[in-house]
Amino acid sequence: MTTRPLDGRTALVTGGSRGVGAGIVARLAADGARVAFTYARSDSQADAVAAAAVAAGGTAHPIRADSMHEQDVAAAVTRTVERFGGLDILVNNAGVGFFAPITELQMDQIDAMPTVNVRSAVVAIREALPHLGEGGRSINIGSINADRTPFPDQSIYALTKGALASLTRGLARELAPRGITINNVQPGPVDTDANPADGPVAPAMASITATERYGTSAEIGTFVSYLAGPDADYITGSSLTSTAASPPDAHRCGPKGAPTPPPV
Ligand SMILES: NC(=O)c1ccc[n+]([C@@H]2O[C@H](COP(=O)([O-])OP(=O)(O)OC[C@H]3O[C@@H](n4cnc5c(N)ncnc54)[C@H](OP(=O)(O)O)[C@@H]3O)[C@@H](O)[C@H]2O)c1
Repeated sequence: MTTRPLDGRTALVTGGSRGVGAGIVARLAADGARVAFTYARSDSQADAVAAAAVAAGGTAHPIRADSMHEQDVAAAVTRTVERFGGLDILVNNAGVGFFAPITELQMDQIDAMPTVNVRSAVVAIREALPHLGEGGRSINIGSINADRTPFPDQSIYALTKGALASLTRGLARELAPRGITINNVQPGPVDTDANPADGPVAPAMASITATERYGTSAEIGTFVSYLAGPDADYITGSSLTSTAASPPDAHRCGPKGAPTPPPV
């Protein structure tokens, strides 16, 4: 029987019922990990993700747990450990974005972004740490918006992704002595419900990336699986970007074919 890179490992992925998280679940399971994943609402989609992983020869277990709530996140870690007998890989993927000028964002939207995107990641790491041993992995899903915010209306979302990069750098110092790595994957635009590749802003978004196209959830799954695997032992504290994004200078932005203003 062929050995897979994550055979014998257990993983918890937050927000695995759709989009990027579903791609991560599929890849980790295909690479041999037993994977638990959380979701907030989508029961049937979560069941479908788990069934697809099993049909492909893997193991996946959905857990309904709202990342808005500390106790849900803690319970998801506990349930993963109870089900699989341990935890080796934590992927903080669950995320929300509300895109509007700051004067138009509602307070519940302003609260939800740092709570789901950052606070729940901190809670999950804190709860997972007692279970992560030598070779453990913590992987956050950030965004190219942490470094470049080429469009307006994304300031609070970008704030949360910048916070994940800082958190990753800081925790690398705490975790390295325990043989645990922590990294931050920063995807460019990925075709998901939250950011469909056929949506109205897609051409502009694709145009500011080096690859000039949307990525797929499967591609992000590949990226995460590499960081989760044994070959990534000497990578920690890093924010790794899937595709370079143009700086937010006016002359580098805008859709392809637009007149290029002179450099300022
Ligand atoms: N798509 C992109 O272009 C892109 C680019 C860079 C980074 N990212 C990051 O990638 C991650 C996933 O984005 P996506 O595009 O795949 O989003 P998505 O299509 O909206 O899927 C979000 C996933 O997270 C879950 N989720 C949302 N709120 C949750 C909560 N409160 N508690 C638990 N689970 C929750 C959803 O569960 P339900 O199905 O139950 O709602 C779903 O599984 C986010 O962190 C996002 O910032 C995305």
